[in-house]
Amino acid sequence: METNHNDYFIVKAMDNGVQVIGLTRGQDTRFHHTEKLDKGEVMIAQFTDHTSAVKIRGKAKIMTKYGVIDTEE
Ligand code: TRP
Repeated sequence: METNHNDYFIVKAMDNGVQVIGLTRGQDTRFHHTEKLDKGEVMIAQFTDHTSAVKIRGKAKIMTKYGVIDTEE
Protein backbone atom coordinates (compact mmCIF):
# COMPACT_ATOMS: atom_id res chain seq x y z
CA MET A 1 0.00 0.00 0.00
CA GLU A 2 1.26 3.44 -0.91
CA THR A 3 0.76 5.83 1.96
CA ASN A 4 1.53 9.50 1.79
CA HIS A 5 2.63 10.98 5.11
CA ASN A 6 3.31 14.48 3.90
CA ASP A 7 0.24 16.25 5.22
CA TYR A 8 0.16 17.84 8.62
CA PHE A 9 -2.81 18.37 10.88
CA ILE A 10 -3.01 20.89 13.66
CA VAL A 11 -4.82 20.55 16.96
CA LYS A 12 -5.36 23.67 19.05
CA ALA A 13 -6.59 23.11 22.58
CA MET A 14 -9.51 25.40 23.46
CA ASP A 15 -9.53 24.12 27.06
CA ASN A 16 -7.14 22.51 29.51
CA GLY A 17 -6.58 18.76 29.36
CA VAL A 18 -7.27 18.11 25.69
CA GLN A 19 -5.94 14.70 24.66
CA VAL A 20 -4.54 13.85 21.26
CA ILE A 21 -4.44 10.07 21.04
CA GLY A 22 -2.50 8.29 18.32
CA LEU A 23 -3.82 4.93 17.10
CA THR A 24 -1.58 2.33 15.53
CA ARG A 25 -1.48 1.57 11.84
CA GLY A 26 -2.17 -1.98 10.65
CA GLN A 27 -4.05 -5.04 11.80
CA ASP A 28 -3.98 -4.07 15.43
CA THR A 29 -5.72 -0.79 16.30
CA ARG A 30 -4.68 0.46 19.70
CA PHE A 31 -3.65 3.64 21.45
CA HIS A 32 0.11 4.13 21.35
CA HIS A 33 0.51 7.70 22.50
CA THR A 34 -1.52 10.27 24.39
CA GLU A 35 -0.45 13.88 24.29
CA LYS A 36 -2.08 16.30 26.71
CA LEU A 37 -2.53 19.89 25.68
CA ASP A 38 -3.55 22.82 27.84
CA LYS A 39 -5.60 25.76 26.65
CA GLY A 40 -3.90 27.60 23.81
CA GLU A 41 -1.33 24.88 23.18
CA VAL A 42 -0.95 23.66 19.63
CA MET A 43 0.23 20.32 18.29
CA ILE A 44 1.36 19.99 14.69
CA ALA A 45 1.65 16.37 13.58
CA GLN A 46 1.58 13.98 10.66
CA PHE A 47 0.20 10.52 10.07
CA THR A 48 3.13 8.11 9.99
CA ASP A 49 4.07 4.46 9.55
CA HIS A 50 3.03 4.02 13.19
CA THR A 51 -0.02 6.28 13.36
CA SER A 52 -3.02 5.94 11.06
CA ALA A 53 -5.72 7.54 13.13
CA VAL A 54 -6.03 10.14 15.83
CA LYS A 55 -8.72 10.55 18.43
CA ILE A 56 -9.20 13.90 20.11
CA ARG A 57 -10.86 14.31 23.48
CA GLY A 58 -11.92 17.66 24.87
CA LYS A 59 -12.56 21.05 23.39
CA ALA A 60 -10.29 21.62 20.43
CA LYS A 61 -10.00 23.07 16.96
CA ILE A 62 -8.61 20.69 14.35
CA MET A 63 -7.19 22.00 11.12
CA THR A 64 -6.51 19.75 8.15
CA LYS A 65 -6.37 20.20 4.39
CA TYR A 66 -10.03 19.19 4.41
CA GLY A 67 -10.96 22.14 6.54
CA VAL A 68 -11.38 23.16 10.14
CA ILE A 69 -13.50 21.26 12.60
CA ASP A 70 -14.27 21.83 16.26
CA THR A 71 -15.01 19.13 18.77
CA GLU A 72 -18.29 19.71 20.57
CA GLU A 73 -18.36 20.32 24.29
N1 TRP B 1 6.03 8.39 17.28
C1 TRP B 1 4.76 8.74 16.67
C2 TRP B 1 4.78 8.35 15.18
O1 TRP B 1 5.82 8.53 14.54
C3 TRP B 1 4.56 10.22 16.85
C4 TRP B 1 3.28 10.73 16.24
C5 TRP B 1 3.16 11.15 14.96
C6 TRP B 1 2.02 10.88 16.87
N2 TRP B 1 1.88 11.57 14.72
C7 TRP B 1 1.15 11.41 15.86
C8 TRP B 1 1.50 10.64 18.15
C9 TRP B 1 -0.18 11.69 16.13
C10 TRP B 1 0.18 10.92 18.40
C11 TRP B 1 -0.66 11.44 17.41
O2 TRP B 1 3.78 7.88 14.68
